[in-house]
Amino acid sequence: MERTFVMAKPDAVSRGLVGKIISTFEARGMKLVSLKVMTPTEEIAADHYAEHKGKGFYPGLISFLTSGPVVPMVFEGKSAISVGRQIIGATRDPAPGSLRGTYAESIDHNVVHGSDAPESAKREMGIWFPEL
Ligand code: CMP
Repeated sequence: MERTFVMAKPDAVSRGLVGKIISTFEARGMKLVSLKVMTPTEEIAADHYAEHKGKGFYPGLISFLTSGPVVPMVFEGKSAISVGRQIIGATRDPAPGSLRGTYAESIDHNVVHGSDAPESAKREMGIWFPEL
C-alpha cells in the first residue's frame, strides 16, 4: 500500500467540489487516511510550492492558495500516487473525465493538487500533516 497527498484547492472548497473529489478517490479504491480544513499561511504555501519559486506564475499561485480554505488529505491504496495523478489529470490539457478535465476553469484554478512522486508525497505530507 502507498500513500499520496491530495489537496482540494480554494476554488474546490468555494465551488462545493470537495465531496466529489473525495468520492472520486473512494470509488477508485483509495482509502481516506487524514483530512483537515485550513486557510494556508504564506509560509506553508511557499514551502509546498518551493520548486516553483522564481517562475512567472509563482506570485499568483501563492496568492490563490492562501485566498481561502483548502482541504489537505492523505489517501492510501495500491499505487496511490500514480492512480491519484490519473484521477486528477495533468496540469496541462487534463484528460476529459479526470477531475481537472471536468472541473478546472484554467491552469491556475485547477481545483485539486496531487503528489507526483514518492519523494514529493512524503515531503508534502510532512508539510501539511506535521503531527502525523
Ligand atoms: P499544482 O499541481 O498544484 O502545482 C503547481 C500549480 O501551478 C499547478 O497545479 C497549476 O495550478 C499552477 N500553474 C500555473 N502555471 C503553470 C505552469 N506553467 N506550469 C506548471 N504549473 C502551473
